[in-house]
Amino acid sequence: MRLQELRLFTRAFQRVRQEIPEHVPAEGNGRSVQEAGPSLYSFPWLLNGAEAQPDDAADIGAGHAVTLPERGTLAIDGMCGRGKRATVYRAADGRGSHYALKVALAPNEPDILNEPGRLARLADAGICPTPVIASGCDYVLKAWVDGTVGTEWLGAPTEAGIIGLGRFMSRCAGARVFVRDLKPRNMVLDRHHEWHCIDPGPLEKMESADEVWRRLERYVLKHWCDARSHHPKYIWARYFTGPRLEGLMSK
Ligand SMILES: Nc1ncnc2c1ncn2[C@@H]1O[C@H](COP(=O)(O)OP(=O)(O)OP(=O)(O)O)[C@@H](O)[C@H]1O
Ligand SMILES: [Mg+2]
Repeated sequence: MRLQELRLFTRAFQRVRQEIPEHVPAEGNGRSVQEAGPSLYSFPWLLNGAEAQPDDAADIGAGHAVTLPERGTLAIDGMCGRGKRATVYRAADGRGSHYALKVALAPNEPDILNEPGRLARLADAGICPTPVIASGCDYVLKAWVDGTVGTEWLGAPTEAGIIGLGRFMSRCAGARVFVRDLKPRNMVLDRHHEWHCIDPGPLEKMESADEVWRRLERYVLKHWCDARSHHPKYIWARYFTGPRLEGLMSK
């Protein structure tokens, strides 16, 4: 993506873009340990109505409930992801709201401690809002984002989703924030065709929008492509580089 193309692209989305603050606090390498906060296990747990005290995150599952000061009792619907450092559960509060409860395998994991700050920075910069409801030394409770996870979307990528991804990148470039860990499984596409980064990883403040765009584009081409068919890569290239871009932008 050349600078001229970036300008075309960002201009096309100026109407829909929120006002982006000039400066988003730099996060350095994102490994600095924030204030630790309470442990998830210091709150009351229930298993089928009876008191329970899971030994570790592996024991939590459907049928469990946890009572957090910020949200009352949340029923665990089931597990929706397990990474190297944490397990993520979907939880419901009985009033129709759903949450993602990320439980660290060990307390004081820098990535878990930094997650609320990173999500707040993305929201403040107008990149994507994922409200953090509560957090502690071994958990983060986030609003549930309804939609399709990037890994699933890659099975049948849509034009609207690709354009949405371009808009997401454009907002990052506008705020000069490089989101380092933009893996498909960390992104959710909502029904308005907007992408949400639900697990951002370290954020880097860059000197220029062009630099952010260049890095994001390189990352997306590398990590969002089907190795066999190159299908997403093909449509990405078709929409975001070369002569088609101008036509798309002038729509
Ligand atoms: N707020 C949310 N809304 C919707 N889905 C979510 C949310 N948070 C997490 N998920 C789901 O849980 C999965 C894992 O979440 P997350 O990326 O935070 O965990 P992780 O431990 O970093 O896992 P990984 O190492 O696979 O990235 C996501 O791929 C997504 O399917
Ligand atoms: Mg993740």
